[in-house]
Amino acid sequence: MKKEISNVAVIGAGDMGHGIAQAAILGGLTVYLYDVNKESIDRGVNRINQSLEKLRKKEKISEEELNEARSNLHPTLDFKEALSSASFVFEAVPEILDLKQKLFKQMGEVAPKTAILASNTSNMSITKIAEHVQNKDRVVGVHFFNPVILMELVEVIRGSETSDETIQTAYDLCLKMNKTPVRVEKDSPGFIVNRVNAPVSVFIEAIADAGIAEPEEIDALIKSHGKPMGHFELMDYVGLDIVYDSCQYNKEVLHPNYAPSRLLTEKVDKGDLGKKTGKGFYDWSNGRPSIDLNKKTDKIELNDILFVKLNEAAKLVEEGVATPKDIDLAMVLGTGDTVGPIESSRGFALSFITKRLESLSEELNKTVLKPAGILYKKPESIFY
Ligand SMILES: NC(=O)c1ccc[n+]([C@@H]2O[C@H](COP(=O)([O-])OP(=O)(O)OC[C@H]3O[C@@H](n4cnc5c(N)ncnc54)[C@H](O)[C@@H]3O)[C@@H](O)[C@H]2O)c1
Repeated sequence: MKKEISNVAVIGAGDMGHGIAQAAILGGLTVYLYDVNKESIDRGVNRINQSLEKLRKKEKISEEELNEARSNLHPTLDFKEALSSASFVFEAVPEILDLKQKLFKQMGEVAPKTAILASNTSNMSITKIAEHVQNKDRVVGVHFFNPVILMELVEVIRGSETSDETIQTAYDLCLKMNKTPVRVEKDSPGFIVNRVNAPVSVFIEAIADAGIAEPEEIDALIKSHGKPMGHFELMDYVGLDIVYDSCQYNKEVLHPNYAPSRLLTEKVDKGDLGKKTGKGFYDWSNGRPSIDLNKKTDKIELNDILFVKLNEAAKLVEEGVATPKDIDLAMVLGTGDTVGPIESSRGFALSFITKRLESLSEELNKTVLKPAGILYKKPESIFY
């Protein structure tokens, strides 16, 4: 059994919330967009209107679709008005557990008893967010990517009490919003995309910390293979304080190896937080840094990064978090890689990959790079 959804509420009109609301109105849904802050609501509605105009100019939507989408949007500062007729609620407020827990409790009390309550958290446990909600079976993770209007991927996450009906309804609703959902069957830190990428950061930053290659030399290697940004450049762009906090979180919930690297810690301690302060690993005072591709390092192989991703993907399969196909799909849609890590690794002998991972783990003294047990015991369950 699944529910037909036509009326949704979006809580929080910031970067993610306004994008979720826009995707929903374009999917023909009636949307109540709520925020505690009037300025945030006004900014969110403006961003939606500007984006709709752009889509119209590019002839991606017709005048009629634009008008219909606009008439589907109801911004409000009244929590009750937003929730009273919603059959599905998207939460997109800041990543603070206590805030989300309190809000979910209120959402559970004010929204109809059958309404599905979804969090757009990037990292937090859906089970924990649901802690104070009655009928926890209706709480689910629905993780959109930024910018929502351009990114097709949505990770649909099962908390420990989420029902099959809730998962299926969330999945179908994402399709209605013209997104591509993938199922995350276990409430596991980082879900798919952030989790598969997490040990890549450990690997790259251990190389830089050990002085084997400089950040710019590593970024030059990555960019010379067609990536729009290098690893350190991207960290600067996101904000080194935000990256630092997410390393701390991963250290607590996944493994001590995820602790912030030495170089990252030094930058944060100095207040050099990247683009937003004008300085981080690069100087941003005159705009985007120019990275000299001639400086690319020959100390690491790009394939090492692939093997680290494959290894983490294998752990996700081993832990029952997601299927190999969904992992590859999520990595393609979520990171811009042309092929997923499992598919990409097919051409290599598995013994070569596991040996390489063993030696990287030993040389860099990082347990998280050790090959997953399933790569030795049941590799056929990885390669679909
Ligand atoms: N920004 C990203 O790249 C990204 C990507 C994926 C997921 N996420 C997740 O999405 C969520 C929202 O992130 P964001 O980047 O949109 O944040 P944001 O700061 O841009 O927006 C948050 C909005 O929530 C509002 N708000 C705060 N408390 C509220 C409350 N009690 N009720 C209603 N509104 C409230 C704020 O006024 C603000 O407008 C976070 O959990 C974040 O981890 C962010």
